[in-house]
Order: sequence, then C-alpha cells, then structure tokens
Amino acid sequence: MSDKPVYKRYTVTSALPYANGPIHIGHLAGVYVPADIYVRFLRMNDEDVIFIGGSDEHGVPITIKAMQQGVTPQDIVDKYHGIIKKSFEEFGISFDIYSRTSNPVHHETASAFFLKMYEAGQFIEKVSEQYYDEATRQFLADRYITGTCPHCGYDKAYGDQCEKCGTSLNATDLIEPKSVLSGNKPVLRETRHWFLPLDQYEPWLREWILEGHKDDWKTNVYGQCKSWIDQGLQPRAVTRDLDWGVKVPIDRANGKVLYVWFDAPIGYISATRELTPDWEKYWKDPETKLVHFIGKDNIVFHCIIFPAMLKAEGTYILPENVPANEFMNLEGDKISTSRNWAVWLHEYLADFPGKQDVLRYVLTSAAPETKDNDFTWKDFQTRNNSELVAILGNFVNRTIVLTHKYFEGKVPFQSDLNDGDIATLSEMKLFPGRIAQSIHAYRFREALAEMMNLARLGNKYLTDNEPWKVFNHDPVRVGTVLNIALQICAELSIVAEPFLPFSAAKIRNTLNLQPFKWKDAALLNWLSAGQTLNAPELLFEKIEDAAIEAQVQKLLFTKLANEAPLAKTPVKPAKEPIQFEDFAKMDIRAGTILEAEKVAKTDKLLKLKIDTGLDQRTVVSGIAKYFKPEEIIGKRVSILINLTPRKLKGIDSQGMILIAENPDGTLFFVTPDEDVVNGADVK
Ligand code: MF3
Ligand code: ZN
Repeated sequence: MSDKPVYKRYTVTSALPYANGPIHIGHLAGVYVPADIYVRFLRMNDEDVIFIGGSDEHGVPITIKAMQQGVTPQDIVDKYHGIIKKSFEEFGISFDIYSRTSNPVHHETASAFFLKMYEAGQFIEKVSEQYYDEATRQFLADRYITGTCPHCGYDKAYGDQCEKCGTSLNATDLIEPKSVLSGNKPVLRETRHWFLPLDQYEPWLREWILEGHKDDWKTNVYGQCKSWIDQGLQPRAVTRDLDWGVKVPIDRANGKVLYVWFDAPIGYISATRELTPDWEKYWKDPETKLVHFIGKDNIVFHCIIFPAMLKAEGTYILPENVPANEFMNLEGDKISTSRNWAVWLHEYLADFPGKQDVLRYVLTSAAPETKDNDFTWKDFQTRNNSELVAILGNFVNRTIVLTHKYFEGKVPFQSDLNDGDIATLSEMKLFPGRIAQSIHAYRFREALAEMMNLARLGNKYLTDNEPWKVFNHDPVRVGTVLNIALQICAELSIVAEPFLPFSAAKIRNTLNLQPFKWKDAALLNWLSAGQTLNAPELLFEKIEDAAIEAQVQKLLFTKLANEAPLAKTPVKPAKEPIQFEDFAKMDIRAGTILEAEKVAKTDKLLKLKIDTGLDQRTVVSGIAKYFKPEEIIGKRVSILINLTPRKLKGIDSQGMILIAENPDGTLFFVTPDEDVVNGADVK
C-alpha cells in the first residue's frame, strides 16, 4: 500500500465554464466526464464526496458578448447558465451543486476572501500604466485589447493571453495594441491596482509542487508548473477597471472589480457554502482530499495562483491533485466557439436523442489524458458500432434473450463447474480491482478499456460454450453457462456505472437489481437461481453512415462559412420603413437584354436594349465595370419601367434594371426564374 495519508472525504471540483456560450464535446471530454466518473466511483465506495460545479459569470468575454449583442452581461449569463446547466443534467454529470458566480453568496465569499488577505497585508498596491481607450473613455482590461503576440507573432492575441502559443501576457506586451471597443490605438494612463506578489511564493511553490508532487501529478501538469516557476513568477494584478464582477471591497477601489481569475476559483468555496452549512470541513480539514478537474489552459490558475491565494488566506487546504487534461480537437482542428467549430451538446442530443452514453464512451475512450486528441465522427461511429453495439450490447442482449428463450426469463442454476467456468469466474474477480486502480490514478481511458474487456470476456465465454448448440442435449449445462453469463452482466452493471450511468441502469432494470456498491463488484453471486428477469432493453443501436455523413456535412458547411469572405463583411443596415403605397407605385417587369454596348467616352456606362414584354427600350446602366457587353446579351433581368426617362451622355434612358450588390461591391442581376415571361409583373 502507499504511504499516502488516508482521506476522510473528498472535495471534487470541475472548472466553472464561462457563461458566454453553450458547452461542447471539448468541455465534456476534458473536464466533466472524467470528474463525473471519478465522483460516481467514489460514491459507490461510500466515500464522503461533494462534486462542485457552476458557471463562471464574470470576466471580459462576457461583457464583450453583451456589448456585441446590445444586452446586459446579466442577460448573457442568465441565458447561458440555463443552457449549460441543462446540458450537464442531460449528460448525467452528477454535481451535488451547480451554482453560479453572480450569486450573492459568492460575492460575499469572494469579497471576504480578498478583504482578509488585504488586511493581512498580502497585496502590493501599485499605480501602474494601463491601456485606456480615449474614444470610449475607459481602461481596457484583458480581452478588450488585441494585438500581435511578442512570442509567436499571432496578430489576434489578447491582452491577457495568446491563444495561438498559449503564452500568458500582459496587455503592455502586445505589439500594435488595438482597442476592441473602438479599434483605436489605446494610450497608457495611470491607475491603481492590487497585486498578488507571486514571486514571494516561489520557494514555497517549488517545495510544494516540484518536490512534493513530483511523482503523483500528471507529467503534463507538473511540466507546465515547472516551466512557470522556472521562468520566474511575477506579481499579478488581482483587480481590474471594469464594472462587471465582484466589487473590490475597499473604499479607494471605487468602481473596480476583482479579476475574474481571482473570484472564479473562490466560486468552488461559495458553491460549497450554498450546498451545506457544514461546508468548512470540505475546505479546511486536512483529512479532506481536494481534487480539481480542469483543462490544460487552466493549469497555472489552479496549481499556482489559487493555491497561493489559499495559502495566503491561511485557513484552507490545498489541492491534493489537479488531473488536467490536454485538448480535444475536432476533425483535426482546434475546437473554437467563435468559429463555431464544435459539437455542441444540445445539438448532439437533438441529432442523437438518448445517446448520452455513446458520447460519454467515445469521449472517454479518446480522452486527451496525456496529449491533445482528435474527435472524429468516423471514430464515433466505429466505437459505437464495433464496441458498444458489437461487444457490450451484444453480450448483454444475447445472455438475456437466451435466458428468456430457454429458462422463461428465470436465472438458471449453476451446477458442476468445468475448468473454463472456474477460470472465467476467477478472471471476473480481477476486474473491479484493476478498474479501481486506474480510476484512482485518473487513468480513465484505461479503466474504461478494462470495463469493455469484461464484456469481451463475456462474449468469449458464450462463444466458447455455445449454449445454443448444447441446449438440446444438455440443458443443465446451459443453465450453468447462462448463470455465469448473467453474473457477468450483473458485474458489468456495477463497473459500467461510473462511465455509462444510463446503460448501467438499463442493465440493472433488466436484471431486476438494485444499485450495488463497488466492493460488491467482486462478489460473483449477485443473482440467485430462480430470480426473474425483465425483458431486455435496447442498450445501443447501430449508427448508420447517413447519420455520420450528415454530421460531417454540417461541419463542412461551417468550414465553408468560415472561409467565405462574404460571411465576414457586414451587410448594409436596413433603411427607414415605407408604406405599401410607396412600393406599389413602382412598375417592375421581367425582361431580357437584347443588345449591349459600351457608351463612348465613359468607363461606367453600358447602353442596353431590353425586351420588357411591352416594348423594346433603351436603358443606360452604370454597370460597365462589372459586365462585358458581349457576355450579358440574352441575360434575364428585372427592370423598373415607369421611372421618368432621363438623358445620360446624350442617350434617352427609359428605365432602370435591378442590381444586387454584395457587401464586397460585386454586382449581380436580379434574374427572374426561367418560367417567368418577359413583361411579367414583379411585385
Ligand atoms: N471559466 C474558466 C474557463 O472556462 C474556468 C474557471 S475555473 C475556476 O477557462 F476555477 F476559476 F472557477
Ligand atoms: Zn503567441
């Protein structure tokens, strides 16, 4: 056994997602599914565990979104908090509480936390120069500034981070900074802020992380921490010039708020206070194991900054582990909310209703535990069809169906065991321990693969024993075989629970079993002979090519939309409203261009002869830059015929043809459908 302390209880947190958009598969794969597996497993072990989640409702991405949409930040977070919470519920993410940082209890908690540190003299107060937008008269925090990253040259880096190379930045590091609000170059102005002197924590962080957690933190997490610490830690501002967030609780800070990364992790504590009056033991008792589930972009905040805050405050425990994952990509590209390159959970469920476990399974099998990984729809289909359907579903289904067929749906007796039976039974015993070990080590892919191996064992057992061939001459033997196969189903219902909670419940229902504890997973006699089973429930079904192609198409459209320059050029705003009568005065007809020639001494005008159905008339049109005369003869057009004639370059122009102009300035005819005859009324 290890020399680790034995913990009395667990506090498990999962990163609080920003409430500025719905959640996607990357969130699930990186943070919430692994956390949920871990927590479900602990609960089955009768551990005292709380699972904390909530929405991160402060920060600049939210105020920017509100500004873009012309609504308040509160409107934005109300909307997305609801959507996110629902998605988590639908996917069985079993939080004990899903809170939000706009709650009053959070504002109180974060405020008190800051104040305690402030009063103990743990901040440095500094007047420093920050970017200020003169046009909109405000300081520009974090993402209100973009510019070129000094490290990699990416030209859309933010004032707090470059998303291309991952470097965390100060706004003043950016080359050619620009205000997101006005597009102008911001100027430097003095403002007072409070800084957490991270440099002072360096010796302690070295000891706590680099020495203390060398062996138990994941390599990717440890590596990032080491590189941060080795680069030399700098004091970090924990306040911002913004009006959305937790107000800095000191008089001189009028109008400033706490930096979102100062308040958000305190949100874990606030949520616990909201959950239980007994919250302190989950945060202050050293016999509590605190584990943070996060994605890799959150490592510095959870391993360095928040622990420094907890340590400074003085009454809290520190995280025992921070099993951060790398990123899940989608079809070879980084998932991106702004480019809509994502599989959104609510859209997935609309397209694949009831298939939560399929996604949980695929995302766990391909979880980016040690390096970035790729989600592809093809892989999704394969894992569903050749693993969930062909192995797990097939085994459970065959066993139940055969039991109904041969034994009227009652668990048959286990008689004499042969060597194969004994070997199978002893192998069955090993799975729960192996799976538990992997889960304790945060190796969820490995744990899931073992779960599937148990189903493989079941399939092999059935195939080796061929009960469908034996029944005619030896029904007693078949009883033994099916009894053992059913015990494997029961064991599966237990060990699958953390990963596939919906399917595990279906198997239990079919077997008429109550939920078991993990320690019961090695019992081998969950079902006694004579017990009645229910009809089999459909566990998994084949996903056809068409369903997968539809998803791939959807992504293709997204890609095209992202590439098309038009999609990014705004169309003109709407004009003033008019009355119907104004419109009805216009006499517009379908017509055909019969002749076209350039008007001498101009480069803009074409002289056209048009068949209007009523007559053939001459129209002078300013389209010469876009259309060559010889190419438009025979083209169908719409023509306004009752426009008062006017002379252009000496030619009488008797009407006007309708032109559509794209935002980029390119011109097109408004062409009537081919069945529309010349002279047809356009209205
Ligand atoms: N909202 C952050 C993100 O999505 C995560 C916040 S985690 C917390 O990256 F600890 F600060 F709450
Ligand atoms: Zn960069």
